[in-house]
Amino acid sequence: MNTTPKILQFDIMGDERGWLCVANGAKQIPFDIKRVYWIYGTEPGVARGKHAHHKLSQVLVCVSGSVDIYCEWGDKSETFTLSNANTGLLLNGLCWHEMRNFSPDAVLLVMASDYYDESDYVRDYNEFKRLNNDKGC
Ligand code: TYD
Repeated sequence: MNTTPKILQFDIMGDERGWLCVANGAKQIPFDIKRVYWIYGTEPGVARGKHAHHKLSQVLVCVSGSVDIYCEWGDKSETFTLSNANTGLLLNGLCWHEMRNFSPDAVLLVMASDYYDESDYVRDYNEFKRLNNDKGC
């Protein structure tokens, strides 16, 4: 599994009434979507996430406001700022991610490849590093 995060740009359909973006499973999103959840009302100083997954793939879209997504995978790390409703961030499997600097109006929509399963979470950072190193990274 390629654990490098990837920015996805959604086509914007718009007219005088405003804007519209579409996410079709297996088209704009590289997996069939089984679950959608959204995060909002997070105070600017609060960080969320702080985990990786064994297998799950997710696409994050900040449909309102902005948020920073700090990611670590392999021997790399990068912070992606999501501040446009037409931009997504694809995260696959063993990519440690932390959501930071939520703006007060931030709504972070997440499309996931599978149902919620706590056993797929890697919540311990040292365990993530061990698994990451075992992959030969
Ligand atoms: P948590 O993983 O702590 O959220 P975040 O990654 O944004 O920091 O999830 C918060 C709670 O919600 C936790 O009790 C698990 C539960 N939850 C579900 O029941 N289903 C879901 O799809 C998700 C994402 C979380």
